[in-house]
Amino acid sequence: MDYFNYKNDKLFCEDVDLQDIAKEFGTPSYVYSKKTLERHVDVYKNAFKTKNNLVCFSVKSLSNISILKILNEKGCGFDVVSGGELKRALLAGADPKKIIFSGVGKSHDEIVLGIQKEILSFNIESESEVFRIEEIASLENQTANLAIRFNPEIDSGGHEYIKTGRKGDKFGISSNKLILKIADYINNSKHLKLVGLACHIGSQITDLESYRLTARNIKNLSITIKEIGSPLEFLDLGGGLGIPYAKDKTPSPEELISIIEEELKDIEERIILEPGRSISGNAGILLTKVEYIKDKFLIVDAAMNDLLRPALYSASHEVWNLTDSALKKELWTIVGPICESSDFIAKDYLINAVQGDILAIKTTGAYGFVMSSNYNSRLRSAEVLVDGEEFNIIRSRESFNDLIKNEINLND
Ligand code: LLP
Repeated sequence: MDYFNYKNDKLFCEDVDLQDIAKEFGTPSYVYSKKTLERHVDVYKNAFKTKNNLVCFSVKSLSNISILKILNEKGCGFDVVSGGELKRALLAGADPKKIIFSGVGKSHDEIVLGIQKEILSFNIESESEVFRIEEIASLENQTANLAIRFNPEIDSGGHEYIKTGRKGDKFGISSNKLILKIADYINNSKHLKLVGLACHIGSQITDLESYRLTARNIKNLSITIKEIGSPLEFLDLGGGLGIPYAKDKTPSPEELISIIEEELKDIEERIILEPGRSISGNAGILLTKVEYIKDKFLIVDAAMNDLLRPALYSASHEVWNLTDSALKKELWTIVGPICESSDFIAKDYLINAVQGDILAIKTTGAYGFVMSSNYNSRLRSAEVLVDGEEFNIIRSRESFNDLIKNEINLND
């Protein structure tokens, strides 16, 4: 559920007419609904029967600091995958004890920062990473908290590019033998502490059976690890819950959590989840203007540099006209100005639109702005936050100076 609705044929975000935002800040602009974000966090939190849980919002899905602040105030922890994301979470006021650092390639400096800030856990993905963290922790004279990310070798369905828990994927560790060896190593290290077991099997998952299997596997593995004398503080099931992009039906966080709790019912460890898309996805839209009409094309001012998902994953997003006029709908292919045929927003899409209309590309809160780029030397769009009747810019549209500020003109 979200707070983007038509009122008297005009599309509103909460109590704000989106035309007002387009007028004030121009297009393309991302617009986020605070109420929607808060509602999604509540849905997750209220779904847990187990008291000992933590929802770590996956920063990669939507990382604007103002958004992270809202989620921090709602009590979320954070799942980060880079020093930049870690610093964003800290700037938003996050408690380091609620920050999990995932990813296969953590750099030296990122590890130093995480150790100095005493984060809840580094979710490690290889043996060599353990050695590197140990070395740095020893130099810092600290103890680093580690969770082992295991790869349950489960195909979670969905697009090839966003599956992460299959045999042969680069993520996590598949071999139980190696996991036990690493657990034992951590136990015997002065500078490391084993705090959890983790996994994340993919994204936009619509089949809860893959979560059931994963929960079962993580539970069995945790029992074996405890048998060799390693107590654990948490089991982290990752993120990945799918959301409806079109009119498709997807499982709810309640359904997901009830399956996980059922599978982990005799387990005392804290349950951690790392949802991204299911919190941020339909909390955001991208406003774009129809610049030209040519043949069957609506040429809009947002492009693949603003929203990469259709080009990269052939993803579908609903597109709504800000004014729900009585004009007859027609099939249009909605494209951007970039010089590539992969630069499209939607193909053969039924919508009414005339030149100058503003469209809302829906469900773009997750993996929208965060994946944007300056391709074709385009300036990245503005980000705007709506809170009831108010709206505020939370990231200014880039300027030409922003675009070239790190370039060095050797001829000057
Ligand atoms: N935890 C870890 C370790 C992850 O790698 C991810 C996402 C998440 C949590 C959050 O997953 P979510 O709940 O948002 O599905 N760019 C792609 C999605 C890539 C997801 C990468 N990892 C897209 O636009 O569909």
